[in-house]
Amino acid sequence: MCGIVGYIGKKEKKNIILNGLKELEYRGYDSAGMAIIIGNEMSYYKAVGKLENLANKMKECQYHGDGVAIGHTRWATHGKPTEINAHPHLGEYSFVIHNGIIENYKELKDELEASGVKFLSQTDTEVIVHLFEEYNKNAKTPFEAYKKTISRLKGAYATLLVTKAAPDEIFFAKNAAPLIIARDGDEIYLSSSDSPLIGLAKEAIYLEDGSYGVAKLGNLTIFDENNQEIKPNFTELPKDKGYALKDGYRFFMEKEIYEQSQVIAECLMGRLSDDDLNLDIDISLFNDIDEVVLCACGTSYHAALAASYLLERLAKIRANVVVASEFRYKEPFLNPNSLFIVISQSGETADTLEALKIAKNANLKTLAICNVDNSSIVRMAKEVLLTRAGIEKGVASTKAFATQMICLWMLSLKLAKIRHTIDDKTLENEIKTLRNIPSVVNFDKSLQEKIYRKAKHYVHGHGFFFIGRDIFYPLALEGALKLKEISYLHAEGYPAGEMKHGPIALADEGLYTIALLPQTILYDKTKSNVEELAARDAFITTISPLEFELSDDFIKINSHSHPMSEFFEIMVVLQLFALEISIRLGNDVDMPRNLAKSVTVE
Ligand code: F6R
Repeated sequence: MCGIVGYIGKKEKKNIILNGLKELEYRGYDSAGMAIIIGNEMSYYKAVGKLENLANKMKECQYHGDGVAIGHTRWATHGKPTEINAHPHLGEYSFVIHNGIIENYKELKDELEASGVKFLSQTDTEVIVHLFEEYNKNAKTPFEAYKKTISRLKGAYATLLVTKAAPDEIFFAKNAAPLIIARDGDEIYLSSSDSPLIGLAKEAIYLEDGSYGVAKLGNLTIFDENNQEIKPNFTELPKDKGYALKDGYRFFMEKEIYEQSQVIAECLMGRLSDDDLNLDIDISLFNDIDEVVLCACGTSYHAALAASYLLERLAKIRANVVVASEFRYKEPFLNPNSLFIVISQSGETADTLEALKIAKNANLKTLAICNVDNSSIVRMAKEVLLTRAGIEKGVASTKAFATQMICLWMLSLKLAKIRHTIDDKTLENEIKTLRNIPSVVNFDKSLQEKIYRKAKHYVHGHGFFFIGRDIFYPLALEGALKLKEISYLHAEGYPAGEMKHGPIALADEGLYTIALLPQTILYDKTKSNVEELAARDAFITTISPLEFELSDDFIKINSHSHPMSEFFEIMVVLQLFALEISIRLGNDVDMPRNLAKSVTVE
């Protein structure tokens, strides 16, 4: 995810911005840039790749004296990671940087282009700077123009704008993306996270959604979402950088579980209208196909498996799922009318990449669902749907899985619409449900505390069976994978109906059965499978909205009318379950033994 740094003061600016951006490197980025205004002099620099590339371009420069500077690291979401698409974006006399997604950028861009404005980049962000300069033609003050600009934006943004029209000020705004302002005497620092601010300032203000304002040496004016000026409420900055890097969480995995609501919102942004989906992929990809093949490894494979249910149910198309390492060598029969979809968080998984090569060489239509733009898989696939989860640090995948599922669900709906296999009312309801998923995965700390308390009972069993039916079967596989990856306890996922075909032989009081028991799909069928296990004295843990009398342990979820809402809520429970057991066992949650984040060898 992108990073933002800003500074107002006398100190040398290049190094303050570069050092700040360095602190944000952990968020992941593919290009970087900065802009500086001192008096009448405006300068800007951009570079693709690592921060060193930007630093090299600026090797000879120093920027002392009263002035303003802004810097940015970009994680591509709209447009490739190129120098032109890197921030800051420029107008004629202003620069803007931005984190998040401007949902209505197309509408704003059309409007600006109609009045003669030329755009350089493919980004959503560039509309902000042009809109500002358009409004500034008739505004009383540049800040009035900025205020009007912000009022036109829909979506998520933390954004800074500097302009020659007000050369000693930084305009800022925040909505659904973090922005923090710190001060040290008269000097002001801005950032998207605590870590660049630690050591530079002692106190900071964490802006609320909808707020915006203007900062100047020794002066800070902030307005709330109702355009009322508010008194800046400074609090002490944390002192520990490690803690700040994880936004106060103990582990990256924990932070990433909490982040899911936000990244799902970003994943949906700009892609939904009330009765259609805009996935920014060439829809000729779907012409004349009679099959979808989904290929991936690990967690991404589980997303593929869950998606096969959605594709067949909604789009009425055959969906085959293959593990990439198997596909490579099985001399697969390749149907020329299939759409070959690879799913990968990293975009570098060797087996998935090879499978994609095979499909490409056979002239199949290819689509990558991936989290990392410009990765090998993204470059190779014909079309791409980015998951927008931001960098995932924890080796055990969480938010990447969540956004893969969202993309695959959106894709199933788009295909269903194109193939006329869904009626308008159902599609509208699906879209409404999709929009609500960010709140479904948003959970209260008390849920984590409850699971932490329960976790102590699970550290000694001889094994875990995660069971579920339909889309909850792949989710059971994913729950088991999360647990084994970070707890090193033996865990398997099974289709609930399969237990009596062999695995039930293992059932005894030391075997934990984690039953995914949603209300909306095959409740009675799954329940009777669980009863069979209970009759053999297995320890039964149910995750369900409905109480189940044979449970030895019970984690209640909310009642939902749509299976996908139940899917996402149970997903969070399973992630927390694995996390808390691993913590109890004293394991390294973020770097489990024997595992690598990106598997670039076969
Ligand atoms: C599990 C996990 C792995 C990956 C797998 C594929 O938590 O992270 O199973 O899902 O190695 O990786 P990507 O998605 O990067 O292709």
